[in-house]
Amino acid sequence: MFEALAEAEGHYLSGQRLADLIGCSRTAIWKNIEELRKSGIEIEAVRKKGYRLIHLPDGLTENEILYGLETKILGKKVFHFDTTPSTQLIAHQEAAKGAPEGTMIVSEEQTSGKGRMLRDWHSSKQKGIWMSLILRPILPLEKAPQFTLIAAIAVAKAIEDITGLEPQIKWPNDLLLNGKKVTGILTELQGEADQINYLIIGMGINVNQESKDFPDELQEKATSLLIESGEKIKRKILVQHILKNLEKYYLIYIEKGFTPIKIIWEAYAVSIGKTITAQTSRGNITGIAEGITNDGVLMIRERDNQLHYIYSADILI
Ligand code: BTN
Repeated sequence: MFEALAEAEGHYLSGQRLADLIGCSRTAIWKNIEELRKSGIEIEAVRKKGYRLIHLPDGLTENEILYGLETKILGKKVFHFDTTPSTQLIAHQEAAKGAPEGTMIVSEEQTSGKGRMLRDWHSSKQKGIWMSLILRPILPLEKAPQFTLIAAIAVAKAIEDITGLEPQIKWPNDLLLNGKKVTGILTELQGEADQINYLIIGMGINVNQESKDFPDELQEKATSLLIESGEKIKRKILVQHILKNLEKYYLIYIEKGFTPIKIIWEAYAVSIGKTITAQTSRGNITGIAEGITNDGVLMIRERDNQLHYIYSADILI
């Protein structure tokens, strides 16, 4: 129904034509139109002409995401919420119930959005993209962190394609614009023995916030695509690009391994070749970031030439 109206590109479709196309009664069509209107989609109804799509809100409902989506696996099933504590939680529940690979959970708002190391993630209503994707790669557990890096390049490329801005990636999971965070990625996993059962890739992307939308403590640290580009972005278009890129890089990874991903990741990386400090649970390590290993582990060389492999840390640049 939604697809039929969208494909008519603003032209009228009569109730009878819609009923024929969909194979249902005209009463069912009317009910369906009311449902779409309730979800914020504006549809004009004119006697003797029929129905016409006037305006799509900047929504991320399943209909909106599916229409124009160019993927085969990712985003084919979407659970959309107006508000939820965290899309990660819902994704874990759905994955445990057997949701297929590519299932996506998205919410207009999160009331307890979570970041790495149990930090809060600020997720204001309709201003950003707060989503979690379920993947089911058949891989050993230690490969899971690589997916944070695969997701990071997928989002970085999508931001570049749509806004022309040039995001940089700060290992392992931050996307920066002008040194401020625009995206965070959180990869969680469920596994048995040595196998990944499922992965949940959570992405928080600051899209249409103005400075005043961020709390005081984030003013110096966070930014949005609107702040950096001066333009409002249609979130659905960005989501579709991310899903398309992520599917592409995921398939490359499955077929060819991490090396091609590593090359792309390093081209976006902010810190390679620079002096950085890694704040780890066992203390700080300062040195030159030499790159990442084939498993996505960060390598830092200290002044005494000792090479450190960093599996988990906050990076100061
Ligand atoms: C980080 O930078 O620490 C990661 C932030 C990840 C935030 C996203 S928003 C969608 C998903 N749901 C959550 O509760 N967290 C992730």
